[in-house]
Amino acid sequence: MDFKSLFRPGILATRPYSPGRPIEEVQRELGLEKVIKLASNENPEGPLPAVLAAIQTAMKDINRYPDAACHELTMKLAAHLGVDSASLIFGNGSNEVIDILIRALVSPGENVVFSHHSFIVYHLTTAVHFECGRPVPLATGDKHDLEGMAEAIDEKTKLVIVCNPNNPTGTYNNLEEFRTFLAAVPPTVIVAVDEAYYEYVSAKDYPQALPMLKDHPNLVLLRTFSKIHSLAGLRIGYGVGHPDLIAELHKTREPFNVNMLSQAAAMACIDNWHEVAARAERNREQLEWMEAELAGLGLAVVPSQTNFILVRTPGDAGKVTEALLQRGVIVRPMHAFGLGEGALRISIGLPAENQKCIEALKEIMS
Ligand SMILES: Cc1ncc(COP(=O)(O)O)c(C=O)c1O
Repeated sequence: MDFKSLFRPGILATRPYSPGRPIEEVQRELGLEKVIKLASNENPEGPLPAVLAAIQTAMKDINRYPDAACHELTMKLAAHLGVDSASLIFGNGSNEVIDILIRALVSPGENVVFSHHSFIVYHLTTAVHFECGRPVPLATGDKHDLEGMAEAIDEKTKLVIVCNPNNPTGTYNNLEEFRTFLAAVPPTVIVAVDEAYYEYVSAKDYPQALPMLKDHPNLVLLRTFSKIHSLAGLRIGYGVGHPDLIAELHKTREPFNVNMLSQAAAMACIDNWHEVAARAERNREQLEWMEAELAGLGLAVVPSQTNFILVRTPGDAGKVTEALLQRGVIVRPMHAFGLGEGALRISIGLPAENQKCIEALKEIMS
């Protein structure tokens, strides 16, 4: 049976998502006792004790379906953000909200504009949905080319995704650039700002998109509990947008898309939001240390506003990745993102993990 003949051409041409390798797999394969993962932009600090306690409490009810409307969580987050509860949608990771947006908005022949060198899921999701992606190359400085993205919009464009700050470059577009871009986008085109890393940003001219929602009903924010809140393994993210737009998106999500433990954990994160600033500060200290060390090794470092750093090694980043792996450090080569063969992304770990990564790199570089 030739199953390939049954599938849509967009599916056949798409390669599956290739995640950072799990620690256990590398340990098994290389016989290493200690392996450090600096590959998936996770928070190395782990969940707060209050979050673990909330999960423990919720566990006794898992014979029941979760609240399909995420009611309590929605109320809590709406109050925290100061938005109408009808302007929120939760997903099985913000990944699912990206998928919902694309599926809900785009018909065959229509398109989605995003940066070519951004989160790989934009490529994958648009590829399997009528091949509707319209990627635009980065501008100089490894930033989104917002001018180019506005120019790429045509009468068939339904959605533009701006990843700010951007994965995998760690760069950001500032308030002025973002305002100019918003003014250039027709009001009938939805602008999704993926703010997966916004809590880490320290740049003063970073655009706060949340207050812009009231003047720009075509704006949707995508956020996640996977990064600074340490819930990557539970899968929960959210979208914020105009209630009428969000109401349509709700129709396309699965009925019980956010599980009970994720809802409980996310509520505990909101109750403990005061921890975010300290977490961001500890990340920034390590980020700055790593940037200086990597530059000291002669690597070209792209200044980052996130919990990861893009560096360019002189040769093949695949070889550096392999050499690091042999020393028990997992990082991500970025050639699949089209950022050049030397491009390597290193997530910020705990201080000892970062030191180990630098020591291993020193060995490899010499
Ligand atoms: C830019 C960006 N958006 C979204 C996500 C997905 O987040 P989630 O774990 O909430 O699906 C990631 C995860 O790496 C990301 O880098």
